[in-house]
Amino acid sequence: MEQYIIRGGNPLVGEVDISGAKNAALGILAAAIMTDETVLIENLPDVRDINVLLEAMESIGVKVERITQHAVLMNSAQIGEVSVDYEYIKKIRASYYLIGALLGKYKRAEVPLPGGCNIGSRPIDLHLKGFKALGARVEIRNGFIVTEAEHLHGSHIYLDTVSVGATINIMMAAAMADGRTIIENCAREPHVVDVANFLNSMGANIKGAGTDVIRIRGVQKLHKTEYSIIPDQIEAGTFMFAAAATKGDVMVKNVIPKHLEATTAKLLEIGCEVEEFDNAVRVVASKRLCSTNVKTLPYPGYPTDMQPQIGVALALAKGTSIVTESIFENRFKYMDELARMGAIVRVEGNTAIITGVEKLSGARVSAPDLRAGAALVIAALAAEGVTVVDDITYIQRGYEEFDEKLRSLGAEIEKINSEKEALKFRLRTG
Ligand code: UD1
Repeated sequence: MEQYIIRGGNPLVGEVDISGAKNAALGILAAAIMTDETVLIENLPDVRDINVLLEAMESIGVKVERITQHAVLMNSAQIGEVSVDYEYIKKIRASYYLIGALLGKYKRAEVPLPGGCNIGSRPIDLHLKGFKALGARVEIRNGFIVTEAEHLHGSHIYLDTVSVGATINIMMAAAMADGRTIIENCAREPHVVDVANFLNSMGANIKGAGTDVIRIRGVQKLHKTEYSIIPDQIEAGTFMFAAAATKGDVMVKNVIPKHLEATTAKLLEIGCEVEEFDNAVRVVASKRLCSTNVKTLPYPGYPTDMQPQIGVALALAKGTSIVTESIFENRFKYMDELARMGAIVRVEGNTAIITGVEKLSGARVSAPDLRAGAALVIAALAAEGVTVVDDITYIQRGYEEFDEKLRSLGAEIEKINSEKEALKFRLRTG
């Protein structure tokens, strides 16, 4: 099993390029099957979740041609199956986007129920409620969600909880329903807007994405397009906090600064300097960080996917901070790992109370999930001594060339496969 080994202590300095947004790409790839014409998608991140979704799509007959590391041509004229294999959905939850896309185009989809996820229970009742409102029958049969309709019709749908997945999934199905759909209490995340823009570029008629009411007029057919995915705001935010925690100076390039406002606001509060450019942000941390409080919320609030990264920074900040997780109930597992590195933390329900220490120290830790895994790498970069991070496949799900990018900023980090390699790293860097 691959691990990261990290010798901490170097401030990160330099420039880093951010890849395309994984969560936007997951929705866009699924939506791309809704036309029989060939679609070009650019700025696709080369990460495991995306590659697994592409395999799942190939398995139902989508022709995928990778023309560069970050661009694919897709043609879905020959989809023979509307049933997706459990193997894929087990590896990547967001293959549930294929339900909305297949249902919209073929009026039928069979997709296994996504399993539990390690950041908390993740129901999809709102997705199903939306499909039903559009006139689909939805049944759970042998572990599959089987959904079909003679025809889909527009509807007025109110989402009880703000959900990114439900907003995107319902929007896709409604794009090819008869008549007008209104979705209320929508998620406003940049990737919801990106999927809507992508569908519109194929001829859909979606208005209001980015606000809490989306209006869709269904169309019969979608056509070819060429589309470039937005930059990954969470990858960008991760590097911004890595700069902060290591007292570094990093120019984070190829970003949309507007998407980073919540992250930028918190970095300023804890004492960093943040300079915004047209498509870059520079984070400079020249003194010890100070404490703050933060609560995760749907966009434009502070993202739950950035909670572990700020948690790590606050573990090094002067004073006591309170972090409240309001989206997922099980997102503090990394706190135990952080405590093994010397952090002073106490978790009570959905709140973590963190008293900052001057220094963390290297330890062997394990990545509990994607974002928490990245956060532990940040902790390791800031810590004294050597840290080994296990279970890095989680991190590879969503970060392209994470270790390479960190090395280019001066980090001492390597991917290793054996004790021998670990020893070599210790000797070389020690
Ligand atoms: C997406 C992101 C994930 C991010 C999350 C919140 C993707 C592929 N993943 O996940 O990285 O952490 O948004 O920003 O884009 N809920 C229900 N019923 C439903 C659906 C959701 O109760 O049918 C609840 C969830 O339990 C959670 C909240 O709604 O408490 C938000 O979840 P949601 O926005 O749907 O998250 P995902 O789309 O799964």
